Amino acid sequence: MNEVTDALSPIEDGQRAENCFLFGPSGAGKTTVAKAAVRELRKEVLDVPHAYVNCWRDYTRNAVLDRLSRDLVGAAVPRSASTSTLLERVHRNFNGPGVVILDEVDQLRETELLYDLHEFRGLSWIGIANDEVDLLAGLDERVRSRVSVGYRVTFDRYGEDTIAEIVRLRARSGLGPNAVSEEVCETIARLVDGDARMGITTLRAAARKASSKGLSNIPKRLVKDAVEDAQIEVRQKTISKLNTHQRALYEVLQKEGRLIQKELYARYQETHSDPVTLRYLRENHLPKLEHYNLVDVEQHGGKKEYRLAIQSDPVVV
Ligand SMILES: Nc1ncnc2c1ncn2[C@@H]1O[C@H](COP(=O)(O)OP(=O)(O)O)[C@@H](O)[C@H]1O
Ligand SMILES: [Mg+2]
Repeated sequence: MNEVTDALSPIEDGQRAENCFLFGPSGAGKTTVAKAAVRELRKEVLDVPHAYVNCWRDYTRNAVLDRLSRDLVGAAVPRSASTSTLLERVHRNFNGPGVVILDEVDQLRETELLYDLHEFRGLSWIGIANDEVDLLAGLDERVRSRVSVGYRVTFDRYGEDTIAEIVRLRARSGLGPNAVSEEVCETIARLVDGDARMGITTLRAAARKASSKGLSNIPKRLVKDAVEDAQIEVRQKTISKLNTHQRALYEVLQKEGRLIQKELYARYQETHSDPVTLRYLRENHLPKLEHYNLVDVEQHGGKKEYRLAIQSDPVVV
C-alpha cells in the first residue's frame, strides 16, 4: 500500500506519476490496494481525474477509451464512436495529472492502447496482472518499452494471521461482535491458502449456513462445508468471466479430460469460429486459466498436459 501511494505521490505536486505495476496471485489484495491508494490520493487532490477499467470485461482499445472518456474526463460519447473520436475526446478534455487503474491488464487484446495512454500528457496508470512474464510476452516491442519502465510491486499470498485478521474484521462489521469466534477465524485462515477472496467467500457461505439453521453464531463444524461451497462459488464466478476463447478451452477439457497442448489447440480450433494463434493461446489464455485455478498443468516428457483442476479439493479441518 505504501509503495503504491509513494508511486502516486508526484500527482499531489501537480506532476505526472510513474506507472506502477502490481503482480501477484488471485486473492492477494491487488485490486483492493490499487483502489485504496487512489482513494487516499483523492483525499489530497480532491478533483484528480481517475478511472477504473477491468480489462477482462473491457478488452478492446475502443472499450477502454470509451470508459476513459466517460469516467476520466466526463465527456459523453456516442455509442460506437470511432477510435479517433475517442482519442480526440480524451486528449481534448483530459486535464492531468491523473491516474487510471487497468485491472487484469494481461487480458487486454489490443495492447496499442497502452501506447495511447502514454500519449495522454500527465496520465499514469496502475497495471494489475498475475505475472510479469505473461504480461510482457503478449506485447510488441514498441509497447513493451513503455511498459518496462515503472514501479513494480509484487504481492505474496497473505499469511494465515493476516487472513484471520481480515476475516475477523469482516465478520465483526458484517455479522456483529459475537457471531464468529477466534477459533473459526483461524480455521478459515488455515484452509484458504492465503487467498483473501476465498477467506471472505468462506465466511459468507458459513454465515448463510448458520442462519439457515437458525443459529446466531457460526459453529466450527460448519467451516469445512463452507470452504467447499466457497470453492464452488469462486469457481463459478471465474467461469462466468471467461472470454469465448477461454471458455472454449475449458469446455474442450471438460469433455476430453487430459490433453497435451497440441491436441488441446487442435480441438479448440475446431470449436471456436475465430481462433487465436497457438502462441497467443500459450502466452495468454492458458496461463490465465492456470492463475485462476481452473486448469492444472503437468509436464510429461517435455510436453505440457492440461486438465481441469480438481473440482473441489477435499478439505481437511
Ligand atoms: N488487506 C485487506 N483487508 C481487507 N480485505 C481484503 C484485503 N485484501 C483483500 N481483501 C478482500 O479480499 C478479496 C480479494 O481481494 P482482491 O483485492 O480482489 O484480490 P486480487 O485483486 O489480488 O485478486 C476482496 O473481497 C477484498 O475486499
Ligand atoms: Mg483483482
